[in-house]
Amino acid sequence: MSKPDFSEAKKLHENTECIFDKKVVEAAISKVAEQMNEVLADKMPVLLCVMNGAVIFMVQLTTQLNFPLLIDYIHVTRYQGGIEGREIHWVAEPNIDLKDRVVVVIEDILDGGLTLSAVKNFCLEQGVSEFFSATLINKERPREEGGLEKCDFVGLNIEDKFLIGYGLDFQGFFRNDPGIYVVNTD
Ligand code: IMP
Ligand code: MG
Repeated sequence: MSKPDFSEAKKLHENTECIFDKKVVEAAISKVAEQMNEVLADKMPVLLCVMNGAVIFMVQLTTQLNFPLLIDYIHVTRYQGGIEGREIHWVAEPNIDLKDRVVVVIEDILDGGLTLSAVKNFCLEQGVSEFFSATLINKERPREEGGLEKCDFVGLNIEDKFLIGYGLDFQGFFRNDPGIYVVNTD
């Protein structure tokens, strides 16, 4: 694979503003963990990380959970690197048999909702006994037709802007930025 071109991403990065710093995001994740510790305590769920975006949220969240759980992942992408949503692309399905299991899908952001509705449908087809979803960020916007309306667990509510950091990327970059940043498009 050739080296990705960083020039467009670099330009975009110069025009960003931090809206939630590390402390705020960490506090939001701890709150989600507290809620999960109550709701999921005796359910022995499978936590499914939606790769790649949710990986940072997943790590910081799961280390604060105090009940028995299993971890697996799915890899599904919608935005294929840029700013606009395209169709859903499955890269990897979970390894654990989800039949009769309680499943909690962990996502970075609920935007149009089509990614999570596709993941939910997949889980229901696998015969899960109960489905939950958690998102670090809920974008406050109308969902697309057929999109998942809301997640059971939400870290932060943010208006409809393009964001990077804490798992969120532009062209695959900036997932490691230690806060949530808005990209100024004007
Ligand atoms: P949805 O299907 O429209 O809800 O899109 C969700 C997926 O799109 C997420 O898993 C993200 O990967 C990506 N996405 C949505 N909004 C943003 C954003 O503001 N920045 C970066 N990625 C985003
Ligand atoms: Mg994602």
